[in-house]
Amino acid sequence: MNGYRDLRVALLGCGSVGAQTARLILEHGEELASRIGARLTLAGIAVRDVHAQRDVELPQELFTTDAERLVQGADIVIELMGGIEPARSLILQALQGGADVVTANKALIAAHGRELADAAEQVGAQLSYEAAVAAAIPILRPLRESLAGDHITRVLGIVNGSTNYILDRMDRFGDSAEDAMRVASELGYLEADPTLDVEGYDAAQKATILASIAFHTEVPVDAVHREGISGITLTQIEAAKHAGYVIKLLAIAERITSSDGVAGISARVYPALIRRDHPLAAVYGGKNAVFVEAEAAGELMFYGAGAGGAETASAVLGDLVSAARRHVVGG
Ligand code: HSE
Repeated sequence: MNGYRDLRVALLGCGSVGAQTARLILEHGEELASRIGARLTLAGIAVRDVHAQRDVELPQELFTTDAERLVQGADIVIELMGGIEPARSLILQALQGGADVVTANKALIAAHGRELADAAEQVGAQLSYEAAVAAAIPILRPLRESLAGDHITRVLGIVNGSTNYILDRMDRFGDSAEDAMRVASELGYLEADPTLDVEGYDAAQKATILASIAFHTEVPVDAVHREGISGITLTQIEAAKHAGYVIKLLAIAERITSSDGVAGISARVYPALIRRDHPLAAVYGGKNAVFVEAEAAGELMFYGAGAGGAETASAVLGDLVSAARRHVVGG
C-alpha cells in the first residue's frame, strides 16, 4: 500500500445504495488500491441525520451533515442523495472545484445533464452516471464507447426494476398490486416517492438518458410519452396470459426515419403486451433488460439486476475506479 497516492472520496447520501457503496469502498480498499495505483480514502459521508439507522454498519466518525465542507478538497465526489436540490448545487460545486463526480441520480441527469456535463467539460473533470440507468447493467458506457462508431437506431427494454417486480408477482403468483408493492419496498427497489416508479416517471428519466446518449442529442424528459402501471389490474394480466402475453412496462427510444433521412426521435414509456416466448417475457422480478439495435452491430441484449443497493453500488464503484484512474499518471 505504501507509495500510493491518496484520493479523497466524498460520499453524499447514505440510503441503501450509499451504504453499500461505502461498504464496498471500505472492504475492497486494498484490492482497489493495487488495481488503480492510488488509495481511495473515504473522507466522509454527508447525511441529514448522523444517527439514523443504516443498512450497513459504518464508522460513525465518517458521518457529517456538512455536505459543502465535505465536497471542498475532495478528488472525487459520489452523489447518491437523489432529487434535484441540493444534489445539483453540490455537484456543480464539486465540478467547479475540479473534482470528478459519480452519480446515480437519474432525475437530475435527465433534467440537468447538459448543464452538469458542460460544467465538467469546462474544468476537464469527469461526470459519470452508469448507475443511473438499469443499476448493475453496464449500458451507458457500451452505448457511449463500445458503439461509438456505429449508428444506433433503437433502444428498447425494461428499465424499472420495481414495476417489473410488481407486474411479475401479479402475473406469476396472482399477488395483488398492493402486496407486490409492499415487498418491492422491503427489497429497496422503490424510489422514496413510489409514484415515480408506478407512474413511469423513473422509466421516462432513464429513457431520456438512454436516448440522449444513443442518438447524440438532447431529449427533454418532459417530451417523453409516459404511461405507468397504476391502471393495470389482475384481470387484465390474466386476460393477457390467456392470450399468450405478459404485460411489461417498456421504455422505447428510436429514430424516426423518412425517405429524406432522420425525421426525429420517438421516446415513450408504457405497459405493453409481450409474447410469452420473447426474451423480455423472461425478465423476472427486479431484473432489467435493454435491447439495442445498431446498423452494423445488429441486435444486442443487456440483462441483469435493475435495482437494489449492492447491485447499484457495483455500477457506482465502476465509475469511481474509472475516475480514480484519471488521477494516476500513466494509469
Ligand atoms: N426505483 C428504481 C427501479 C431503482 O425500480 O428501477 C433503480 O433505478
